[in-house]
Amino acid sequence: MYSIDILVEEHKSIIALTEELRKECTNILNGKEIDTDYFEKAVFFARNFGDKYHHQKEEKILFRVMMEKLGPVATQLIRGGMMVEHDFGRLYIGSIADAVEEYKKNPDDALKLDIIANAVGYGNLLTRHIDKEDNAVYTFAERSLSDEDKKTVNDETLLHEEDKNNIEIRRRCLAILEELKGKNNG
Ligand SMILES: [Fe+2]
Ligand SMILES: [Fe+2]
Repeated sequence: MYSIDILVEEHKSIIALTEELRKECTNILNGKEIDTDYFEKAVFFARNFGDKYHHQKEEKILFRVMMEKLGPVATQLIRGGMMVEHDFGRLYIGSIADAVEEYKKNPDDALKLDIIANAVGYGNLLTRHIDKEDNAVYTFAERSLSDEDKKTVNDETLLHEEDKNNIEIRRRCLAILEELKGKNNG
């Protein structure tokens, strides 16, 4: 299913970000200074690619149709599971952003700990979340949505993908991801 292929592909980029964040945090434990620019870029990616671009596509298109068409089991799985986890992800990212902002004014160990804890927490949450989507939620959709509903989801996804602003945000975020990967490999 076109929409799900796209979402699964985006998960790979989100997982790549969480892996980079984990590497960066390990480096900090080994004595590296906090690179506030690195974390600001990671927050930008998580907010704009992970949340706005990817989660919005789930919430406004695929999950919306699943909740409309697949009854209370789907609604419980999505509203009580996936959407709650999207909110927790936003909380982690907000906490990283706040701690980085504060660290620039007052670089102390407590803030360093907040940055590491929230970055690792975000990574663990998203890794589990993505595993559930790839292996339970999306497979449920593939199995259960009618051809007509799949077409609705695919058509709306295509419009979202072709939107000029979305093309630009995708391009910008994927470039940031490559830059962050380069920092940890260089
Ligand atoms: Fe999700
Ligand atoms: Fe997802």
